[in-house]
Amino acid sequence: MSLQKVTKNKMNKIKLSILFTAVAILPIYSQINNLVKTPPMGWNSWNVFHENINENQIKEIADVMVSSGMKDAGYIYLNLDDNWMAKTRNANGDLQADPTRFPSGMKALGDYIHNKGLKFGIYGDRGLRTCHHYNNSSQFPNSGSGSYMKEERDAKTFASWGVDYLKYDNCEPAPGSNQRQDYERMRDALLKSGRDIVFSICAWGYQDWMPKTGNLWRTTGDISNAWEAKPGDWFRGVADIIEENEKLYIHAGPGKWNDPDMLQVGNGKLTMDESRSHMTMWAMMAAPLLTGNDLRKMTPEIKDIYMNAEMIAVNQDSAGIAGHRVSNENGKQIWIRYLGSQSSGNIAVALYNKNNTTQTIDLNFADIGITGEVSVRDIWQKKDLGLLKTSLSAEVPAHGTTFLRLTTKLDPAEPFGDKAIAIPGKLEVEDYDKGSAGLAYSDNEIANQGNAYREGGVDVVGLNCKAVPEGTFLKDSDCEGYAIGYTTVGEWVRYTVNVEKTKKYYVVARVSSGSENSSFRLFLNDKAITDTIKVPKGADWDTYTTVSVMTQEMTAGEQALKLQITGNYVNVDWLYFCEEENCADTIKTAIHAGVNNQNLELLSQVKVSEFNVFSITGKHLGRIHFDGSMLSNSISKNDAFAKEMKFAGYINGVYIVRAVKGDKALKIVVKE
Ligand code: GLA
Repeated sequence: MSLQKVTKNKMNKIKLSILFTAVAILPIYSQINNLVKTPPMGWNSWNVFHENINENQIKEIADVMVSSGMKDAGYIYLNLDDNWMAKTRNANGDLQADPTRFPSGMKALGDYIHNKGLKFGIYGDRGLRTCHHYNNSSQFPNSGSGSYMKEERDAKTFASWGVDYLKYDNCEPAPGSNQRQDYERMRDALLKSGRDIVFSICAWGYQDWMPKTGNLWRTTGDISNAWEAKPGDWFRGVADIIEENEKLYIHAGPGKWNDPDMLQVGNGKLTMDESRSHMTMWAMMAAPLLTGNDLRKMTPEIKDIYMNAEMIAVNQDSAGIAGHRVSNENGKQIWIRYLGSQSSGNIAVALYNKNNTTQTIDLNFADIGITGEVSVRDIWQKKDLGLLKTSLSAEVPAHGTTFLRLTTKLDPAEPFGDKAIAIPGKLEVEDYDKGSAGLAYSDNEIANQGNAYREGGVDVVGLNCKAVPEGTFLKDSDCEGYAIGYTTVGEWVRYTVNVEKTKKYYVVARVSSGSENSSFRLFLNDKAITDTIKVPKGADWDTYTTVSVMTQEMTAGEQALKLQITGNYVNVDWLYFCEEENCADTIKTAIHAGVNNQNLELLSQVKVSEFNVFSITGKHLGRIHFDGSMLSNSISKNDAFAKEMKFAGYINGVYIVRAVKGDKALKIVVKE
């Protein structure tokens, strides 16, 4: 795109992305371990059994997870909490199972759990002793159950037992220790352990470093078996946790979740309305669903709550966009969660009554950005409420929630600059369609879909920008162009394109990634037209290169082209589509010919003596001939090619250069 086209919003983003560069290039933990892309589901022993756990009881829980249908509903992690371990470590200094309560040991228990098709979770602590051992110090004076400075040893032990999930608590920090570093050491130890282990940080509050360290992090003090906490109590009620967790919604996303603690449904204190609110809000908040009840004694009513497939589908929505509150008046709360993407037209809505009396909650569709007809489904009643137009009202009992799934008709997206992009031709990737209610782009992190830059989102980054002082906005002239960046798996951008002929096209993409296993894929009207296209790991996140493939047949006419990130993260500058036959010996890169004052950087060594230069629309502009051939990795503005270009009078713009003789795989980038 030309620099003039950059809007104020883009400039804001560019400024912020520059400032946050250092943050963005540190991988978040979920990008390394690729686990729990949807919130983990399972069972944890603490809420119901506390420290009183033993082998037979846990095996029975494993059995009932299968026989009750919980496993098939998605609850697959069986997680032991505190006090599985003996009162001391063994003679080698290794953690060991309590010999009386777990006589067969943890490896055998892990095998039992795995044989049931479940996954095995365990509990540890970053300090000197676990919370139960520390809180009952006199019973466990020398337990050494904490992993402080024994992280690698303990991670190896866990891996040898077949552990799949570690909840890592925060009790009895070693004197002089640093919380963040303690958690980072265990993260690194898990990564070295040779096993894929979900890392669940339990440090009772969100901190910025946590997404880089764990797959989930506890956001509050411990949940108690109560709707509300007593004033001043460290233990939290369900309603308190909803308030505290809500503001953190922007931090959640695939592989990285806010953890508002284990579920109390079925533990005998919450009313049925409160139980359904608890589940609704955990589903809305994209929270882990770790049931905390005695599954062996589950009533049909409780089972119905835990196993409501439509509730689970909201919780497990693959886009991982956590819900947030959009209004809160007199205890009447309206929450929305985008499903699929912000612009898919599918929205989960919770009408939550925090008050102690029944209230009517009105939902105006316009208030949540919906126009036109909406089909409405009640998730707890398992009933379609039909097609509604402007609003709905629900009578919601005290502490209750009406849980709805809305499906809207989508307005078409608005093409960038109101014009379809011509294929064959060049597409600047940052010029994606506008959203409105249409499909335009999907960002895993909802806060990123407005204007603000946030780590992990589809966003615009400046290319070769000048350094500017912190807090200053970049001007158009400070950057040489734009790309999308900070993308993560699943995110996509879409374009309205006008395909000239039904045929296969050759596509070249200018891309960069600082990580392994980065890839993207192209779709036309949601049908894949390429395989995943691998992006090689560059020297750093903005070392650009080009990759190229032949597409499947693309149908002529106006189509929706989607570029989706399919592996790790990728920055994409542009896509160039050309016709097969004309591309065969074209230099596979469109160049930015900023002819004045430029250096040419050759990305591969070249051996070429003659070029044809074409405009982007394929018009032949001239031929450049050299005496001898270029054999170099870099050409300065005084070199022959640059001089010839200048001499030919090309203005800033995009040109296609085809080697007449020589290396067909030549790649050229022209830097100003
Ligand atoms: C802490 C944690 C709880 C539980 C107990 C076990 O309080 O926050 O979730 O694991 O320790 O002792």
